Amino acid sequence: MKYKGVIETYRKYLPVTEKTPVITFYEGNTPLIHSKYLSELTKCEVYLKYEGANPTGSFKDRGMTLAISKAKEKGSKAVICASTGNTSASAAAYACRADMDCIVIIPKGKIALGKLSQAIMHGAKVFEVDGNFDQALELVREMGEKYPVEIVNSINPFRIEGQKTGAFEVYDQLGAVPDYFCLPVGNAGNITAYWKGFKEYFDNKKISKLPKMTGFQAAGSAPIVLGHPVNNPETIATAIRIGNPASWKTAEAARDQSGGSITSVTDDEIIEAYKLVAGKVGVFCEPASAASVAGLLKRRKEGKIPDQQLVVCVLTGHGLKDPDTAIKTGQKPKSILCNTAAVARELGY
Ligand code: F0G
Repeated sequence: MKYKGVIETYRKYLPVTEKTPVITFYEGNTPLIHSKYLSELTKCEVYLKYEGANPTGSFKDRGMTLAISKAKEKGSKAVICASTGNTSASAAAYACRADMDCIVIIPKGKIALGKLSQAIMHGAKVFEVDGNFDQALELVREMGEKYPVEIVNSINPFRIEGQKTGAFEVYDQLGAVPDYFCLPVGNAGNITAYWKGFKEYFDNKKISKLPKMTGFQAAGSAPIVLGHPVNNPETIATAIRIGNPASWKTAEAARDQSGGSITSVTDDEIIEAYKLVAGKVGVFCEPASAASVAGLLKRRKEGKIPDQQLVVCVLTGHGLKDPDTAIKTGQKPKSILCNTAAVARELGY
């Protein structure tokens, strides 16, 4: 088999040795999709990095392959995470493959259905709490201190190491460094990881410039934009419903060192972009992922991004993760009689 996942592909950039058992579902190598529609709309060259095409349907698999492999190497028997959904889905699948227990703490009622079904089906011990992601993560930190469980949230540095391969891949596929690199920001691990990846390629002389890291938070959950934690974060994009990001400082460093920005988009802007990407580009991503495109459109409108720029937007998770939002915000099927005349009439033939 030629493609062996992100650890084998980028082994020399990763903290693994020949002793590390590689736990992989051959994640990574996701499509980088040029969008003519978005390019014309924005007068830029726009590519979508479709991380929803990873084995569990989100970018988390890049970090999880490394976090779980390193936990296995260390001899851990159990891993634990707090999650808005995708981390738990990925942790559950990789822990299952590694024959380890997986404990998941989620905010009750705020996890998209697809993600919850994944954690359940992969046999994780799933606990929902009356609290938000930030409180769940606090609980997980304490569990990690007191009990023999390995934390696989992005406060585990191996998660960031694995996720930085996304940056390598973007350059390897595109053959160029984007001027603007747009992505949603929640717990802020991913923007931290991408920036680390780009800097490592730069330091290794693989690339000679760096992108402007352009992050977007949901307006109701925008602590980095506001400059203070948000106690009761809210947004339809539940994946990024986070009020006190663990990687806050490194996200600010990525923003400042790259000459980029972290700004907010409203839920309406997110849903508009979500529909646009699905309906006009043909790529189905989850609402949080659409924040990257919503943000690009907003910053173009505000004149903050000039014409003719090379832009990559990361679509962090698959649209099927959150069927409820699709059904709620999308068009409704029309009931008709089961005959050709009825269909033809509807179509105006
Ligand atoms: N997009 C999706 C689809 C996510 O699931 C997340 C985070 C983000 C963006 C933001 O990435 O946290 O690195 O800034 N999801 C985490 C989870 C919090 O538990 O699945 P970030």
